[in-house]
Amino acid sequence: MAKGMGKILVAATGKGGAGKTTSIACLAIYWHLAGKSVALLDVDANQTLTRWHAHGDVLSEMTLRSATDETLMIPIISELAADHDITLVDCAGANNQAMIFAVGAADLVLIPAMTDEANVFEAARMHRIVDNVISLTKRAIASRSLLCRVKRAVVANHARAQLEALNTNPLDAQLHDRVIFQEATFHGSSPTVLAPKSASARDIEHLAQEIELILWRESAKLKVKSKRSA
Ligand SMILES: Nc1ncnc2c1ncn2[C@@H]1O[C@H](COP(=O)(O)OP(=O)(O)O)[C@@H](O)[C@H]1O
Ligand SMILES: [Mg+2]
Repeated sequence: MAKGMGKILVAATGKGGAGKTTSIACLAIYWHLAGKSVALLDVDANQTLTRWHAHGDVLSEMTLRSATDETLMIPIISELAADHDITLVDCAGANNQAMIFAVGAADLVLIPAMTDEANVFEAARMHRIVDNVISLTKRAIASRSLLCRVKRAVVANHARAQLEALNTNPLDAQLHDRVIFQEATFHGSSPTVLAPKSASARDIEHLAQEIELILWRESAKLKVKSKRSA
């Protein structure tokens, strides 16, 4: 992706139901309300994000494109990234070519994982896919795992330790299992809108701010450094 373009965040893991679409929708709404220009790209044949977007609430205020033919995807990502501060790409819960293409374009790959063995296993696999794409493209691509649907701290801590041991760089933020996330799916909304003072809204804020640090502040610091050393 060319310099000067907006950031590209891709949610991907081979595990279905891990929290990809939920994370994308909640982050999109958070940044939209914070004044950033946000675009959405749905590359999942199930078109879940596209349906949530059609419900007409806050999510529908953002540009959404869908690309189920992966050969048409990269030009669409480039077009969206040129016009928006951030483009969020929602992948299917399967290891397919669309996912590889999206990772190839990403600044950050977010790997949602629920707190069980199969999710942790798929997160580690996803991390290796990102490493392979980095080798192929010779681009820097950040990747972080995210614990989703956290119920019991003791299980979450165990899953987090496993994610760390498998080098998937878990974010500090985690999304707890709360029914408001499911309620939001019927509206194209998010806890940030439905219950701004709730613990779930705080989870999303924590997540968004941690990602902002990776996407904007760290790369800004690098730019300042390279200007100084030039
Ligand atoms: N933190 C959460 N608390 C409660 N339900 C959640 C949470 N995150 C996701 N869900 C629910 O779990 C299901 C799968 O989530 P989804 O984001 O669609 O996963 P994926 O896109 O990875 O397949 C959805 O029904 C969603 O509403
Ligand atoms: Mg999904």
